[in-house]
Amino acid sequence: MQRNCPIGVFDSGYGGLTVLEKIREHLPAYDYIYFGDNARTPYGTRSFEVVYQYTLECVKKLFDMGCELVILACNTASAKALRSIQQRDLPLISDHHRVLGVIRPTVEQIGQFTHTHHVGLLATQGTVQSQSYDIEIEKYHPQIVLHSEACPMWVPLIENGEADSEGADYFVKRHLDHLLAKDPLIDSVILGCTHYPLLLPKIKQYAPSTVRFLSQGDIVAESLSDYLRRHPELESKCSMGGGCSYYTTESIEKFHTAARLFLQEDLNVHHIDLNKER
Ligand code: DGL
Repeated sequence: MQRNCPIGVFDSGYGGLTVLEKIREHLPAYDYIYFGDNARTPYGTRSFEVVYQYTLECVKKLFDMGCELVILACNTASAKALRSIQQRDLPLISDHHRVLGVIRPTVEQIGQFTHTHHVGLLATQGTVQSQSYDIEIEKYHPQIVLHSEACPMWVPLIENGEADSEGADYFVKRHLDHLLAKDPLIDSVILGCTHYPLLLPKIKQYAPSTVRFLSQGDIVAESLSDYLRRHPELESKCSMGGGCSYYTTESIEKFHTAARLFLQEDLNVHHIDLNKER
């Protein structure tokens, strides 16, 4: 079997880079394609149907680029599009392509972190409204009580390079206070948006030291590593040049500038036009 498939990592914007970085730390040998739909980000405030259509379009592009395994490194897309893609679209597209999300691996791990069994979720409006975390937690950890807070300003602050600004202080404190006021027993908080690790220093500054915050990078990377071990038929097709190419629906220059907030390395970036056949 020829190893010629890079692993696709998709996000609406730059947030998935926090997951990609950890995936590459855990699994450095494989090749990756990162795809940011930066021209249409944020997804977090968009309707179910729009997030599903956008995500499906991008996933199909990644398939066209040779990826047989795609990770939705985006909670909003995982919440609003993953199930439909897995159940409705994939069977029509191919019987060997796979798309995985970030919500289930996160939920599987949360039991290890909480002692009080009272957990908080910080996420986009779309993820919170979808109740995907509530549904998965009920399934895996029925003893856990979940409280959620939507933070609609956090992604725009990060995407606009304002994560260190005073404006960010205001919005971080505001949403954190709202969440923790809902239940004083919360001891663990899921950062349920792949952008949020960039706000972690500020989040910690305004949170009691007894509360733990879970970023998803390591969790998703470990889950992918386990998935590849359990699926040798897919793993044996993954190419192993240790490289990564970056594709954006925005301009290459914009991607370069903003991606520097996330990754400290020179990136091989390409523009992709979703309306053009490859
Ligand atoms: N990074 C995405 C997530 O994990 C959200 C960004 C957006 O709103 O587009 O939910």
